[in-house]
Amino acid sequence: MRIPSGSPNRRSDFLRCLPRGSVGAEIGVQWGEFTAELLAVVAPRVLHLVDPWWRLNPEAEWDWEEPERADARRGHDTVAERFAGPIAEGIVEIHVGFAQEILPSFPDGHFDWLYLDTTHSYEDTREELAVMVPKLKPGGILLGHDWQEDPQHPFHGVCRAVTELVAEGGFRLVALDDHSQWAIERRAMAPAGGAQSPEAFGLRAPSNR
Ligand SMILES: C[S@@+](CC[C@H](N)C(=O)[O-])C[C@H]1O[C@@H](n2cnc3c(N)ncnc32)[C@H](O)[C@@H]1O
Repeated sequence: MRIPSGSPNRRSDFLRCLPRGSVGAEIGVQWGEFTAELLAVVAPRVLHLVDPWWRLNPEAEWDWEEPERADARRGHDTVAERFAGPIAEGIVEIHVGFAQEILPSFPDGHFDWLYLDTTHSYEDTREELAVMVPKLKPGGILLGHDWQEDPQHPFHGVCRAVTELVAEGGFRLVALDDHSQWAIERRAMAPAGGAQSPEAFGLRAPSNR
C-alpha cells in the first residue's frame, strides 16, 4: 500500500496493521520518540527496545541530525525515565546493544513484528535483517523507516537490502507510506489473532512488486 499523497496521515497510522497485544521490538530507539507511538497504537504485550546508544560510535556524534543532541547516554536515560511506568509493568524492556548482539539471545520465532530504524546503510541493514528474520513468527511483519528508492539517496541501502530479502522469496512487500516506511510479511498462514492485512485499513498494496 501507499497512503495517497496529500491525505492527512501520521507516521503512526502505519502501525495500525500490527496486532495489538503483540510482542515486538524497535531496533534503533534514540530518544524514544517513536517508542511512544508504538506503545500508543499497538499496545504491545511486550516491547523490546534495542539500541547501542553510546556504544555506536563513542568518538563521534551519535545524533547526526541534531548535534546538540549528541549525548547518547542522555538519550538512553531519557528513554529509561520516559517509559519507567511500562518498564516497571514488564511491558517495555531496554537492551543496550546492537541488534546483531541482542536478537540472537531470543528464541527463533519469538516476535510478531520488528521495527527497524538504524543507520540506513546497505551493509548494516543486511546484517540487521539477517538476525531479525529467524526471530520473526511465520506470518510476522518486519517494518521500518527510510525507504528511499533513489539509488543516489544516502539512505537507499534500506530499500536495496529489503528488496533483496523479498527477492529471496520468503517475504512479500505489503506496505509503503509517505513517511518512508515499509513493511514486509513473512510468507505463511498468519496465526489466529496475527497481523492483519494493510488492505483491511483501506491501504493499497504495492502494484508492481
Ligand atoms: C534514526 S535513530 C532511531 C529513531 C527512532 N526510531 C525514532 O523514530 O524516534 C537511529 C538509532 O539507531 C541506533 N542504531 C544504530 N545501529 C544499530 C544497530 N545495529 N542495532 C540497534 N540500534 C542501532 C542508533 O544508536 C540510533 O539511536
